[in-house]
Amino acid sequence: MSAKLKTSAKSRVAPKRSEGGWRKEIERVLITEAQIARRVESLAREIEKDFRGRELVIVSLLNGTVVFLADLIRQLNLPLRLDFIGVASYGTGTESGELVFTKELCLDVRGRDVLLLDDILDTGKTLHRVLPKIRALRPRRVKTCVLLDKPARRLEKIRADYVGFAIPDFFVVGYGLDFAERHRNLPFVGVLKPHVFKPA
Ligand code: XMP
Repeated sequence: MSAKLKTSAKSRVAPKRSEGGWRKEIERVLITEAQIARRVESLAREIEKDFRGRELVIVSLLNGTVVFLADLIRQLNLPLRLDFIGVASYGTGTESGELVFTKELCLDVRGRDVLLLDDILDTGKTLHRVLPKIRALRPRRVKTCVLLDKPARRLEKIRADYVGFAIPDFFVVGYGLDFAERHRNLPFVGVLKPHVFKPA
């Protein structure tokens, strides 16, 4: 038997998001939910144009890409397969440190069209480490796509083929991005209050 839908007037009203949790740590919304939705849709159109007639392998970097990935693939009108690489950076606070691979690719990407997805291109160290690993597997081509690009902090000579938004040098959270694993579930990208990562 299927579950019955509740039809009371009360249940038809969307519950208000509790703001208490994030307002304490987030200074302001930098990119709204609506702006993200529009940009993800236009990114999907750009990617479709470039990969038309091909089957894509999307390689998504865990964990920060999960929300972006879920929205992007539902906009993509292309045959695709999905795989993940796990990367953790053992740094302090907001500074990235040593990169450790926590999950390796499972799909065979040899001769395939690969789209490598990351949440944010910051110093460039992550993509600089991951790209040669993928290229060594001899794909037909690899393109990179990031939701956010923070060019001011770049240390490696690297750029992404598809960029959602270029942003100034703020530490941002939300829409998959975290601080100490928190705030990934926010539907927008917000600026973290400095006192959170630089305690007085
Ligand atoms: P790099 O410096 O290697 O950075 O290009 C890539 C990874 O570092 C994390 N990162 C951030 N995470 N807000 C975050 O929540 C930020 O402003 C930020 N900057 C870098 C992120 O995991 C990204 O994949």
